[in-house]
Amino acid sequence: MIASHNIRDEFEMIFGLPPTLVVRAPGRVNLIGEHTDYNDGFVLPIAIDRETYIAARRRADRLVRMVALDFGSEMSEMSLDAITRDDAHRWSNYLRGVALMLERRGRRLPGAEMAIRGNVPIGAGLSSSAALQVCAATAFRALGGFDLDGVTLARVCQKADNEFVGIQSGIMDQFISALARADHALLIDCRDLSYESVPLPRGATIVVCDTMKRRRLVDSEYNARRAECEQAARLLATQLGKPVRALRDVSPSELARCADALPPIVARRARHVVTENARVLDAAAAARRGDLAAFGALMDASHASLRDDYAVSCAELDAMVEIARQQSGCFGARLTGAGFGGCTVNLVEDGAVPTFVANVAQAYAARTGREPQIYPCRASAGAGELPPPSF
Ligand code: GLA
Repeated sequence: MIASHNIRDEFEMIFGLPPTLVVRAPGRVNLIGEHTDYNDGFVLPIAIDRETYIAARRRADRLVRMVALDFGSEMSEMSLDAITRDDAHRWSNYLRGVALMLERRGRRLPGAEMAIRGNVPIGAGLSSSAALQVCAATAFRALGGFDLDGVTLARVCQKADNEFVGIQSGIMDQFISALARADHALLIDCRDLSYESVPLPRGATIVVCDTMKRRRLVDSEYNARRAECEQAARLLATQLGKPVRALRDVSPSELARCADALPPIVARRARHVVTENARVLDAAAAARRGDLAAFGALMDASHASLRDDYAVSCAELDAMVEIARQQSGCFGARLTGAGFGGCTVNLVEDGAVPTFVANVAQAYAARTGREPQIYPCRASAGAGELPPPSF
């Protein structure tokens, strides 16, 4: 946690006056339901206790001055009347996109001064960019004094990603950052955007292991998978003789009946999505009844499916999962996020966490020559304003 008075002090040093508010938005780790969000399916993420903060103050004009404290206090400025990209300060495009989409939705934003700081690891697959977008939208909402519910806020941020930053992400990352509930996972239906918080089973800790393999090819491969899923949905509609808007509309038994009629790779991609949707619902049920073993087994099956059918794993992720599964007290382990590097998520018995962390770090470094980062996590609450300082 970053002490909020630090960011207030830093803001004042840069802008000459104290901020009127500080907002925060968390990164996320997905427990299960990978590559299902853009197939109108189900996901079960938590928000983690790593977050982005923005200290802000309104200006009387329409100028926004943004300072990234983690990037040598670089400053980027924009006029809200002509929002364009700033590729010399690429971090600022996340805020620019959000501002543009809010204005397009008819929210008139005030000019602002903003200082940004965060501790979500960047490029690790823990959604530091979604945290920044959701944090920016939360800051603009508070400064502008307008209404914007959490689901709409998440959609605005996703639109900013898709249309301004140019990344074809689904809704999961922004949704959980905006709407998470502490100590709970969120079961999200990515078709109608309804959601339900699911209490995390007692007795186990979520441990995130960063392989330190930075994700490569993620955009091109991500888009290729999306296209294969759309192709599968079109072919299955013909085969099944029913409307298939997305793979969400296909059951595992329907797919098994028609799989032979699809090109083999497309059939495997579809099998991952269709079985993963079923695993998410089973995992939510296992969590509700506190069944750690069943939950962990579903995580293991998810990893195998992502590796073998969806082909988004890599040697480092597979090594991390394999090593984790050899530790006592580990109920389940899988890659999390888009894949091709980044992190795994592990469900570990509370008492076994210190040994798990030490053993996995040692064995992974010995096997791959990379020093991993390992974070036991708490499920934190979604974005919001910090209370004013009490001193
Ligand atoms: C990235 C995207 C999400 C989701 C995951 C895969 O994190 O931003 O929308 O598609 O990959 O589950």
